[in-house]
Amino acid sequence: MTRFPTAKLRRELQRRRSRLARSLRGGVALFPSYGIRRRNIHHEYPFRPESCFYYLSGCSEPNVVALLAPADAEPYRWFVPNIDAVAAQWDGAGLSADAIVREFDVDRVHSIDELPTVLESLFGASDRLYHRTGINRELDRQLLQLVERLRPLARRGRAVPREFRDAHVLVEELRAKKSAYELKSMKRAAEITATGHLAAYAEIEPGRAECEIEARLGYEYRRRGATGHAYLPIVAGGSNAATLHYTRNEESLADGDLVLIDSGAEFDYYACDVTRTIPVSGTFDAAQRAAYSVVLQAQEALLARIAPGVYLEELQTLCARTLARGLIKLGVVKGTPAQVVRDGHLARYFPHSFGHWIGLDTHDPNPYRTRTGEPVILSPGMTLTIEPGIYFPTSDRCVPKTLRGCGIRIEDTVVVTRAGSRVLTANVPKTVREIEKFMKERASAEPESRTATRDAKLMMG
Ligand code: GLY
Ligand code: MN
Ligand code: MN
Repeated sequence: MTRFPTAKLRRELQRRRSRLARSLRGGVALFPSYGIRRRNIHHEYPFRPESCFYYLSGCSEPNVVALLAPADAEPYRWFVPNIDAVAAQWDGAGLSADAIVREFDVDRVHSIDELPTVLESLFGASDRLYHRTGINRELDRQLLQLVERLRPLARRGRAVPREFRDAHVLVEELRAKKSAYELKSMKRAAEITATGHLAAYAEIEPGRAECEIEARLGYEYRRRGATGHAYLPIVAGGSNAATLHYTRNEESLADGDLVLIDSGAEFDYYACDVTRTIPVSGTFDAAQRAAYSVVLQAQEALLARIAPGVYLEELQTLCARTLARGLIKLGVVKGTPAQVVRDGHLARYFPHSFGHWIGLDTHDPNPYRTRTGEPVILSPGMTLTIEPGIYFPTSDRCVPKTLRGCGIRIEDTVVVTRAGSRVLTANVPKTVREIEKFMKERASAEPESRTATRDAKLMMG
């Protein structure tokens, strides 16, 4: 069942489209959503709209194409799939043209079949077309066919698109700074994520399967109004944490190991992204504590540095230097922090970056460099993750034996504010003391009442 945007969201969607229209400079822009993707012959993967399309339209229906032609008398159109009575009986009737015009402020609704003809008629005013290939292959094919058909007619005065641009680049720039509306959804995603993490930590004990922890996260997310996981969750016990994208989550947790849990809820299609590394026994041993403190120190240094005016590069340098200093202290590498970074030794144990943009996508596609190649500077409303980590392969003889096969990451979702930053996921225990206290006290409460109380607290806070 499609949700209709609220009056407030409709006003915001109009503002987003107006801002985009100003930068289209008379061109025509197409924004296809995704279609349904098959899992096997009769079943499909869960549908999620394409993010730039959703950002501009508020529509969560598959196979719709939005068209913006600011110079036209009907500047905002949708092209919708044809759904016959049989398909409607199985999968639902989709949106009526009346509802689309009434609820989504669309000027005109067409059948998807009319797209080439309508597009051809709009090319008179401008020869610039904005489109992102690879989302709707059929549309890509139709566009090529149209252009190739029109091109020979150009010398007879027929308007032909000559300039093709990536439609998403402009929208991705708009998406960089989140509005108050978007931040509200991100905060809700963060609250639900925090509740899910706490409930999941309560399940951790030797012998528990990683998939049980994963199931608990998903259960909490869905029952609290999330669409589900924002990405495939990682529940990696012991040396599984050294595989960065371990998502099989099919082994058992062992006493004395750490378990790395990287999981976030998606609410209103906005993502949250949190990682914590928890001792299966409830307490860190000395080596784990030392390694954990290295990552925590880096994370805290990064969080303290986030503020308007800061370059992303500064964060990467700070992260690398702090982790390198920690690895030297742990006896894993030798040299000065600068040498350890420069000679590639840090990258063996910290192969990713300090974090990423986050929003409608877990890895939001906002630029990391401006279109002229300048580094991006943080400003209020930007949202990012901070996620230093260190990963020690089981077979690495440079690593002290006590640390081999250990992976630690600490990740939070953060918004840049005028005064500095706010951690949206601050409710999830993070220091050694907080984690050990939580793991100790969880045993004294009933799981259901415990999560319910915490959820209530989170909602109030
Ligand atoms: N969970 C994906 C990431 O941390 O980037
Ligand atoms: Mn992340
Ligand atoms: Mn993550």
